[in-house]
Formats: sequence, structure tokens, C-alpha cells
Amino acid sequence: MQVKEQFNRYAKQYQERSIIQQKGAQLLVDALPKSLGSVIDLGCGNGRVFKLLQQNSFHFEKFYGVDFSESMLSLHPKGKNIKLFQGDFNSKETFIKLQSLNANTLLSASALQWAKDIKFTFAQAAKTAPFGAFFLFSSGTFKTIHKIAGANSPIHSYATLEAAFLQSYQAKRVEKFSFKLPFSSTLEMLRYIQKSGVSGKLMLPYRALKKVLREYPYNYLEFETALFIGESYDFS
Ligand SMILES: C[S@@+](CC[C@H](N)C(=O)[O-])C[C@H]1O[C@@H](n2cnc3c(N)ncnc32)[C@H](O)[C@@H]1O
Repeated sequence: MQVKEQFNRYAKQYQERSIIQQKGAQLLVDALPKSLGSVIDLGCGNGRVFKLLQQNSFHFEKFYGVDFSESMLSLHPKGKNIKLFQGDFNSKETFIKLQSLNANTLLSASALQWAKDIKFTFAQAAKTAPFGAFFLFSSGTFKTIHKIAGANSPIHSYATLEAAFLQSYQAKRVEKFSFKLPFSSTLEMLRYIQKSGVSGKLMLPYRALKKVLREYPYNYLEFETALFIGESYDFS
């Protein structure tokens, strides 16, 4: 299933199936200065970051939410200082539009792991706002499942993400976080993955699924993530 279809189909279940995304959004928000100017949120989804900013009394002039899934956008809070765009962060046209907004902060939580060309997306993000803050997943997520199934991770490695970020931003913070999420059975883990928005195109063939069910050694899922905060070279 393509990433967009997956988010359109599981938009309503996303909130309760995204425990690590919640931790990630909190880590991201905790790393931000209190005054943000105008903010762009790439892959804003159902507005988790917006809600956290509000709950934590951040000051922002305007909030621009961007997402390519109409179902996710339909669940995002609306308001006078909020503008939502349907757009793809793999596309130049999206960034041309965003660059005309003269935003001060560009952030993104749990979305840019789906960037097709992460160098392009970070480079365009850096042309869009002087301050950047990103939380994203890397390929060590579900590492043991991929190994047993003989599959490659559909997302970028931590090293690739970090190198791409450092090409466009002067780093203030670059950190890897690993998480373990416990489950009562491997079947429950596989169900969780399907609806959580981190499996994307990874649809394992029946045989590989059976192998994972038989051989997976842990009672938890593995997640590997990155937190990157920096100032864009394009504005310095
Ligand atoms: C895991 S959700 C994260 C949503 C929100 N940022 C959060 O922290 O809960 C990823 C979001 O990125 C969006 N997305 C994925 N690929 C995208 C793309 N190429 N362009 C725009 N949005 C995309 C999905 O539709 C989804 O809403």
C-alpha cells in the first residue's frame, strides 16, 4: 500500500496507534524556543504538533499545516491563525508555495522518513524558513522483523538522514533515540505496525509474515528515530 493510501485509510485510527509519534512530537516541542514566529508543519497530519504547541503555551503568529492526505488534514484543528495546504514534500511546487509565506520556523514530526529524496527535502526546507526542527524515523525501526523476513527497511538509515540534514543546516542538536514498545504477542505487533503509519509500502508476503510470527524473539517492537534542530545555511 502506498504511503498516501495508508494514511487516508487509517486516519481515524492513527491517534491511538501512534505512541512513538506522540513521544517524538513531545521531544520536538520540548526542543523549541517559546517564540516561533510563523510556523510551517510538514506532514502535519491530524494536528498533533499544533495541539502540543497550544497546550504548552507557545507563541506563533500563523500556523501553516501541510499534508498530502486529505483524510488526515480533515482531522486537523481549524482556526483563524491556521492555514492548511494539501501538498507533497517531495515536490518543488509545494516548496515554491511555502517559500512565499516567509515563515520563521519549519518543523516536521514523524513524516520526513517518507521523503523520497531526503537531501532535496531538507535543502528545500532550509530555503523555506531560517529555523528547522525535525523528528523522524530511521531504518533501525523494526530491524529484527526486517531481518527475519529478509526485507529491506523502506525508510532511510540514520546516517543518511544526518548527512542530509547537516548539508543544509548548522546543527544545534543532532540526536538518535531508540524506543521499545511492549506487546502481548507478535500478532498484536504486526497489527499495530499496519495501522501506525510507519510501515508504508512494507507489505510482507504471507510466508515472511508466518516466519516473523514463528521466529520473532522479543515482546517489544524496536524503533529508531532522529531529532535534528538547526539553523538554515540559506538564511545565514
Ligand atoms: C506519521 S504521520 C505524522 C503526523 C503528525 N506530524 C504527528 O506528529 O502525529 C505522517 C504524516 O505525513 C504525511 N505524509 C507522508 N508523506 C507525505 C508527503 N510526501 N507529503 C506530504 N505529507 C506526507 C502523512 O499523510 C501523515 O499525515
